[in-house]
Amino acid sequence: MMRTKLVAGNWKMNKTLTEAMEFAVSLQEHRDELPDGVEVMIAPPSLYLVPMEMVKDPVYELAAQNCSQHSFGAFTGEISAAMLSEMRVRYAIIGHSERRQYFHEGDTLLARKVDACLLHGIKPVFCVGENLEERQEKRHFITVLHQLEHGLYHLSPAQMADVVLAYEPVWAIGTGVTASSDQAQEMHAFVRQSLASHVGEATANRVRILYGGSVNASNSADLFACPDVDGALVGGASLKVHEFIRIIRSAAGL
Ligand code: 13P
Repeated sequence: MMRTKLVAGNWKMNKTLTEAMEFAVSLQEHRDELPDGVEVMIAPPSLYLVPMEMVKDPVYELAAQNCSQHSFGAFTGEISAAMLSEMRVRYAIIGHSERRQYFHEGDTLLARKVDACLLHGIKPVFCVGENLEERQEKRHFITVLHQLEHGLYHLSPAQMADVVLAYEPVWAIGTGVTASSDQAQEMHAFVRQSLASHVGEATANRVRILYGGSVNASNSADLFACPDVDGALVGGASLKVHEFIRIIRSAAGL
């Protein structure tokens, strides 16, 4: 099964507007270096989605880093999938470990956010992953399974086909310690097998599973060589345009 690789940059709460636009322009200027057959996605702070969608013929898809479970209403500070869907925003990251940890987003809420995205035609990039203690206690499969069951397994196969998954072990995020390609492949295969038992093999084989956690231009090729690693969700290394381009190229074996 050929799945189009997806290289996604999660900028988190970084960059000024000037820096964001410089990055976007620079990526456009280097478009000849970007390989065919690799999808590029950027999740900037939501304030920058509008100027970044104005770029002519962009080489990237845009994603929000979060969205509300509600469509409209008295929810100060929130942005909804209904609002995102009117713009050129195709994806929203849902359930990032920083949202789970610092903003106390739990399984029930995340399932509702997934539903809100799908209702408005936004593809959720749903994040799962264990923390260090869970890994050390060999509870990482159980943890990820729990996150999948509560966040996604109410979806129909047709809905699931619009979901992207991201395995992001918390111990690998921003630490410089990436999962080995064996660890990544083992978990990705486990996730796909679990998906298959819920929505069938055909759908499970279509769903892209990204790896995230200290991905950089030096380790991305090894990760992308794993049969069940369909791309990456890149944090720190996605802030530097030349490093991001190298990661994108490595997804095509360049
Ligand atoms: P780093 O690549 O900085 O480890 O961050 C990963 C991440 O959280 C992407 O969503």
